[in-house]
Amino acid sequence: MNTETGVLAVSFGTTVDEARHSCVEPVEGALARRCAPLPFFRAYTSGVVRRRLGERGIVIPSPEEALEEMARRGVTRAAVQPTHLLAGFEYDKLAAVVDRARPRFRELRLGRPLLWDTQGVEALAQVLSARFPREEGGCVALMGHGTRHPANLVYPALQGVLSRMGRHDLLVGTVEGSPELTQLLPMLEGLGARRVTLAPLLLVAGEHACEDMAGPSPESWRGQLEARGLEVRCLLEGLGALEAVQELYCRRLEELLW
Ligand code: CO
Repeated sequence: MNTETGVLAVSFGTTVDEARHSCVEPVEGALARRCAPLPFFRAYTSGVVRRRLGERGIVIPSPEEALEEMARRGVTRAAVQPTHLLAGFEYDKLAAVVDRARPRFRELRLGRPLLWDTQGVEALAQVLSARFPREEGGCVALMGHGTRHPANLVYPALQGVLSRMGRHDLLVGTVEGSPELTQLLPMLEGLGARRVTLAPLLLVAGEHACEDMAGPSPESWRGQLEARGLEVRCLLEGLGALEAVQELYCRRLEELLW
């Protein structure tokens, strides 16, 4: 039987053009190169993002639509690689979409997010440690998304691995999960740091990074830390911009392919 393998990269998506170009597309590009010459497709899960981009003439399919298109183009064996960081609600939803599309294919596989297992957490900890060299009198607070999903445990897990590596100066917090910034403050004080670098622990430096982390509001991480007299520097660089992170996604794809 004639078998055609195809790869679909699925991201949440972002309406921030600069972030899409610097953080999402490089990951998609790395995955496309890794699986070449297999046909490569991409999709965004966020309906809001796709609708807002669509209004500007940028049409990106949903995972359902992309899978349908793949089947129509003769793909019989499909590999779906998410660019999600963890297996939270978005990943569960994608898994359900993949299950519904299963009858359309001979084989359909769903890949793992970056922080799926301990190995993934350790690999990202290495990347972060290399990206943020130790600085005298300084520390780094990383802002993750956070979730009420049990998968939120990757954040304390990452903190644990970083601490074990001796990187007590790299703090892991979240906007919508645990730990919150307030829970990091005692650690910050314990470090005695005068300067804090804020950086997104997010694939994309999109709205959360620009507003909740670096925004001008007194509620933002920047605002809260400046109010405590700390010197704050904001780095608006999503993880997807890092080649080492793109490589971690490529390894996830390699685990997935036949
Ligand atoms: Co959010």
